[in-house]
Amino acid sequence: MAVGAPTPQDKFTFGLWTVGWPGNDPFGPVTRGPVDVVESVERLAELGAYGVTFHDDDLVPFGSDDATRDGIIARFKDALERTGLKVPMATTNMFSHPVFKDGAFTASDPALRRYSLRKIMRNMDLAAELGAETYVMWGGREGAETDAAKDVQVALQRYKEGIDLLVQYSEDQGYGLRFALEPKPNEPRGDIFLPTIGHAIAFISTLERPDLVGINPEVGHEQMAGMNMVHGVAQALWQGKLFHIDLNGQHGPKYDQDFVFGHGDVKSAFFLVDLLENGAPGGGEAYTGPRHFDYKPYRTDDPADVWESAAANMRTYLLLKERAAAFRADPEVQEAQRASGAADLARPALADGETWKDLLADRSAFEEYDVEAAARLGKHYTRLDQLAIEHLLGAR
Ligand code: GCO
Ligand code: MN
Ligand code: MN
Repeated sequence: MAVGAPTPQDKFTFGLWTVGWPGNDPFGPVTRGPVDVVESVERLAELGAYGVTFHDDDLVPFGSDDATRDGIIARFKDALERTGLKVPMATTNMFSHPVFKDGAFTASDPALRRYSLRKIMRNMDLAAELGAETYVMWGGREGAETDAAKDVQVALQRYKEGIDLLVQYSEDQGYGLRFALEPKPNEPRGDIFLPTIGHAIAFISTLERPDLVGINPEVGHEQMAGMNMVHGVAQALWQGKLFHIDLNGQHGPKYDQDFVFGHGDVKSAFFLVDLLENGAPGGGEAYTGPRHFDYKPYRTDDPADVWESAAANMRTYLLLKERAAAFRADPEVQEAQRASGAADLARPALADGETWKDLLADRSAFEEYDVEAAARLGKHYTRLDQLAIEHLLGAR
């Protein structure tokens, strides 16, 4: 299996907080030193990435004065210019500082909500200046541990107000940003609002500008909730809501593992890459945005291992892309798909011009329909699934 090295055309992007994660967890402190932002930009560019993304506080430590902030941004910009790396997305840290312990958009205190909005607006200014197209909102602290704490309907109303205001700000400033909500079921809160892709898409329909707001689903987050990431992403695509995506690895419903992409449920990763690369109706790339990795190098990794893990995300994606293409091109797979009648799903139940009246008049549709014969028909999905596994394992 030969796949080339990643190139910027592959549109791989990484959060500064991913390769920069020093390994602290709830049970112990850091295991690695801090990584300089310029080093991250340079290394990722060398490895073939397209871009980097950041939370405001990843780039400029919380509470820095203006001169420090300006200095850091200037160094960052210089590194971007030298390497050609892009910043297609930015986001805000509304979860680390203790002031956000009970949320930002949905904090009870209106003054804290006003502060939170200003923090986001300030980073949106920088995001726009750096050419970002997408602004992600992950509401990690928007939630509760007890249902006695928050009236969820009121909290969602506050969430909506906040997002409506920020979208308006982007439009008025001419930033043209598109916003992507990132669902997660829990962690750090006991329960987070907008826990899954489905909740987020439904919430978006209540907003003033639903056209400018989509989602940023993360593999691990859907799988923590026991959801099928591939189905969720397909629905987001179908509803025009896949504005961005966080790729990583997860082994089922447990803590947020944030492993390297494919280093969790690899079969789901295979079908996800197949969907993104080949899943448009009628064939072709279904998603054209950045392939963004939101992972954490193992806490047991040393500083050199970190860059190996960054490369592993991209290589795994490219290998799965090659495998998915081979799966699609295999005549035996196509034959198995025909045998299962898969293509018939593309045909509507009513023919062109038919109405319910024609359906009612059609005796073959009901009175003469051979229910028992139809019930006996096998779909041969095991064969199709085995072919997928064989391609995934490189056996074909
Ligand atoms: C997580 C989240 C975060 C968000 C990021 C963007 O692992 O819980 O994925 O990493 O993606 O904070 O705001
Ligand atoms: Mn995560
Ligand atoms: Mn994420």
